[in-house]
Amino acid sequence: MERTFVMFKPDCIERGLLGRILSRFEDKGLRLVAMKMLRVTPEVAKQHYAEHVAKPFYPGLEEFITAAPVVACVFAGPEVIRVVRDMLGATSGLKAAPGTIRGDHSSSRQMNLVHASDSPESAAREIGIYFKPAELLDWDPTLACWFQAPGEA
Ligand code: CMP
Repeated sequence: MERTFVMFKPDCIERGLLGRILSRFEDKGLRLVAMKMLRVTPEVAKQHYAEHVAKPFYPGLEEFITAAPVVACVFAGPEVIRVVRDMLGATSGLKAAPGTIRGDHSSSRQMNLVHASDSPESAAREIGIYFKPAELLDWDPTLACWFQAPGEA
């Protein structure tokens, strides 16, 4: 089953939106396999956002992502990388479609509430930054059989 890395960013925690947004992933039937609250350090921010470090917006991004605690998660499910990205909507909350998480709750390009991996390679890399292999719990929710038919997962 595919895995993706999801981070509820400082704006999400400070605005008290964690529960409501997490509920959307639970309602969708995504399987939570790891979760922790932490403070991103400047070193971890540079590792996580390695592809953006040289961009003009990076200093502001680092200041933002280190400004308050975050909640890091791993979700598992069929096509979960695409499914989560679709649920988030476009990067900018100003462009994200109504009904998506950012479309409903964000009006910012930087403060867009939730990060999610954009490919299997990014997911493996990002999960490795925030979690040890033993912290990923392989479990079968009792209700899984009511979210997908046999053979779909
Ligand atoms: P995220 O999905 O976490 O991936 C990179 C982050 O950089 C992105 O969400 C935004 O928070 C931020 N970002 C991307 N583009 C810009 C931009 N042009 N200006 C400011 N922040 C940006």
